[in-house]
Amino acid sequence: MASGSGSNFEALVHACRDGRLLAEVALLVVNNPGCSAQQRAKRLAVPCQVLNHRSMASREALDQALVTTFQSAGVDFLVMAGWMRVVTPTLINAFPDRLINIHPSLLPSFRGLDAVGQALAAGVTLAGCTAHLVCEEVDAGRILVQAAVPVLATDDHASLSARIQRQEHRILPLAVALACQG
Ligand code: GRF
Repeated sequence: MASGSGSNFEALVHACRDGRLLAEVALLVVNNPGCSAQQRAKRLAVPCQVLNHRSMASREALDQALVTTFQSAGVDFLVMAGWMRVVTPTLINAFPDRLINIHPSLLPSFRGLDAVGQALAAGVTLAGCTAHLVCEEVDAGRILVQAAVPVLATDDHASLSARIQRQEHRILPLAVALACQG
């Protein structure tokens, strides 16, 4: 599940294809038509479906459409790889312990939007990313894997985001493997 660039989606596809993760990325769902993630799916020959939240009556309606789509595709594990929508029990309860999220902070610090900006504003010297199980509370489920990176005096938002993203791409496949092993 992706909303924007899709670099974490692509990292998962590569991890599966080069044997680091014994899984197959069966389907990408995006909520923003034309987003870069959708273009990556085309280039990587991964099936992609658009479920545009703007044409859904509620969060639950979007999540029910996700459940139906993933169940029909025979998907048994979900990754919110830059999915910029709050999810509801409709989705969470359909895939218990099989729905994970990647967040660009060392949770429980800096939940919610613009975690990298929050970290810079707070003046921390260590930042990072967290892969975690999804529960109803945003960015709060059980932590699976974290990676820390230094915040350099010369960093701006872009340079720190890039350093964190390199670690996201490394830990996300590990987190999927760990969650699948229970
Ligand atoms: C990542 O930084 C992730 O932590 C956050 O959204 C961003 C998605 O990046 N949830 P990308 O679309 O995978 O490049």
